[in-house]
Parts: sequence; structure tokens; C-alpha cells
Amino acid sequence: MALNTGQPKVLVMHGPNLNMLGKREPEVYGTTTLKAINASLDELGKKLGLLIETFQSNHEGALVEKIQEAIGNQNGLIINPAALTHTSIAIRDALLLLDIPVIEVHLSNIYKREPFRHKSMISDVATAQITGFGTPGYTMALKALAGMIH
Ligand code: DQA
Repeated sequence: MALNTGQPKVLVMHGPNLNMLGKREPEVYGTTTLKAINASLDELGKKLGLLIETFQSNHEGALVEKIQEAIGNQNGLIINPAALTHTSIAIRDALLLLDIPVIEVHLSNIYKREPFRHKSMISDVATAQITGFGTPGYTMALKALAGMIH
């Protein structure tokens, strides 16, 4: 259940290999680091009156546990499950535990890439999906979430 008191909270989750942004396939994912993405979300969060928490893991179970912790503690979720987007029923099932808006974000346009990336295990349980806008996709997601939460 979403919180009704205090400043609304938004959790931003990043899946496997996104800690390598900046170095990782820059022609696909750009040159912005994860640290810089998180800092820009933190700054935008302040303007939008949202408290931002960020979390990155290369481990499916750690991501599942973090989603479970969001129950009753967060008012919105932005998630880029990275490669786990295409495989993880566990992340999908964890998201089904939440009753807060969930925005799925991908830096690249997953539908323009290899066929195995065309299927998202979470797109039909997420509130919305933003794909292919690069790093601005995260700030777009946060602005959209702010509108949903406030
Ligand atoms: C990604 C797309 C995924 O297919 C890939 O495995 C990633 C990143 C993206 O942001 O474009 O790691 O989620």
C-alpha cells in the first residue's frame, strides 16, 4: 500500500550491467554513467517534491527483495531490469505485489534490437513503458510518475 504521509518516495531500480554505463556499449547505451543518471534523478526529484532512492544490482534475487521492500514504503517505482526484462518471471511476480505506479524504462529501443529483446516479462504489469529515449527516458519517467503520485 502506498504511503499517505510525508514526502512521496520513488524507488529507481537498475538491473544487471547497468553499473557499467558509460563504458558499456556506448553506441547503444550512451556515455552517461549510472552515477550521473542517479544524480540527475535526485535533483529532479527535489524539484518535483519526491524523495528518490536508487538501487542497482547484478543479482535477480537482490532485485526481487528490493521490490518486496517497496511494499508500503514507496509511492512509485522506475525500473530498468536490463537483461532480466526478457527472462525474469520472479521480477514480474514481485511487481505484482505492488499497488503503486511502475514505469519500465529502457535506454535503447528494445523493439529495434534482437528478437530476444522484443519480449518484456513486465510490460503488461507495468503502468507504462519508456524505451529508446536514452538517458532522458529516466527523467521522462520521473516527471510522469510525479503527475501520477501528486
Ligand atoms: C536495456 C535493454 C536490455 O535488452 C539489455 O539487456 C540491457 C539494457 C536498455 O536499457 O536498453 O541491459 O534494458
